[in-house]
This record gives sequence, C-alpha cells and structure tokens, in this order.
Amino acid sequence: MFMSEDSLINTASLISPHISLVDASSRAPVKLGIMASGNGSNFEVVAQAIEDGKLNAQIQVLIYNNPSAKAAVRAKNRGVESVLLNHRDYPSREEFDRQIVQTLHQYEVEWVIMAGWMRLVSQVLIDAFPNKMINIHPSLLPSFKGVRAVEQALEAGVKITGCTVHLLCLEMDSGPILMQAAVPVLPDDTPETLHGRIQVQEHRILPLAIALAAQK
Ligand code: GAR
Repeated sequence: MFMSEDSLINTASLISPHISLVDASSRAPVKLGIMASGNGSNFEVVAQAIEDGKLNAQIQVLIYNNPSAKAAVRAKNRGVESVLLNHRDYPSREEFDRQIVQTLHQYEVEWVIMAGWMRLVSQVLIDAFPNKMINIHPSLLPSFKGVRAVEQALEAGVKITGCTVHLLCLEMDSGPILMQAAVPVLPDDTPETLHGRIQVQEHRILPLAIALAAQK
C-alpha cells in the first residue's frame, strides 16, 4: 500500500528554463502578429501580459482562419485589429501563406506567434519570418506531435506530459525548443481535464518564452 503524497505534488509543474520577466520597457516594444484558429485563451494571456506591463510588446494584428474563432471576439474586446483569412478561399497552402505574409507585413509585424493555429505552414511563411515564428503545442515535444496531442498522451499512458513553446520550422511541431512545462497525468484524467491543466501552464510559459526569444 502506497501512502499518498501531499496533494501539491500531484498538481505541481516544472518549467524550464526557469526565468522571470525582466523589465525591458526602455526598449521599443516588440511588434507581434498572433495567429489563432479557435478559443484564443493564449492570445488573451499574451494581451494581458502586455497590459500588465510584464511583456514589452504590442499586438499589431490577430489573424484567424476560422470564422467562428472566439479569438476574434477576444481581439475585438481588447481593441486589437483582427483579419479573417479563411484557408478555404485559397487554391493552395502557398497562396494562403502569401496572403498571411502580406497581411503580417502590412501590419509591420516583427515576430509571429502561433497561439492555437491549426494549419500546417509552407516554406513561404517560414522564409518571410526566419527564426521569428513561435508555436505553442500541448505536449512535451518531440512526443505527440500533430492533432489530438493530449489524447495521444493519454493513450500512450505517460505519467508526465506538458506543453512546449518552440521556434517554428517546416516540419510539423518541430524546431528549437524555447521553453517547456511538465504536467503530471492523474489517474482519472480525461482529455478535457488534462488539457485544462496543460493550458494553465501554457498561459504561464507563452509570455515568458516570447520575452526570452523576442525581447532582446
Ligand atoms: C492550445 O492548447 C495549443 O497548445 C494548441 O491549441 C490550443 C489552443 O488553445 N495548439 C496545437 O495543438 C498546435 N499544434 P487556445 O485557442 O485557447 O489558445
């Protein structure tokens, strides 16, 4: 019979690298373009970190590809301009990405943040922002790439999963890792409960990772 440990252990997380946000307010704010397909909670925490003075950046534009994305409502509520680019309106991935690049340039974006962007990207986008695109993914990469990452982790029976913020490259959910947070898998977890706890950690590490990469 095992004794149960303090409940803190079950809910603790581990973030690496362990940094805190530095005051970079004397430098010009980094101009961000955020791309999102859905709920937009990660968009929200970046916007909040900026509003709280914790991240020296400004969101130039939100690009969303799904007409019903809640991210667009969040942008409107925060007075951030948003542009709907629906991939279904474009004949190829490259044509779609060319329009994204044009929009990002139009809004003078320096760094691109994929915050729940559920489309593969082409070389067109990578070439336009080399080493200046950041993605967040709900697993400890390189495990569980692609869709259903949380379900994949549960199916594999891992005891620890988490989330990763990384620089984007052409291969899906790959590229140099900026920051990760580990999250324990609990015995009764469903995809929803586990994803909920992973998202708590996503919301901690995304602003930190943006600061780490972009706030030079
Ligand atoms: C996040 O969990 C993010 O890691 C995931 O989509 C969710 C978006 O949440 N991204 C991917 O799976 C990309 N491969 P949000 O819309 O509430 O920010």
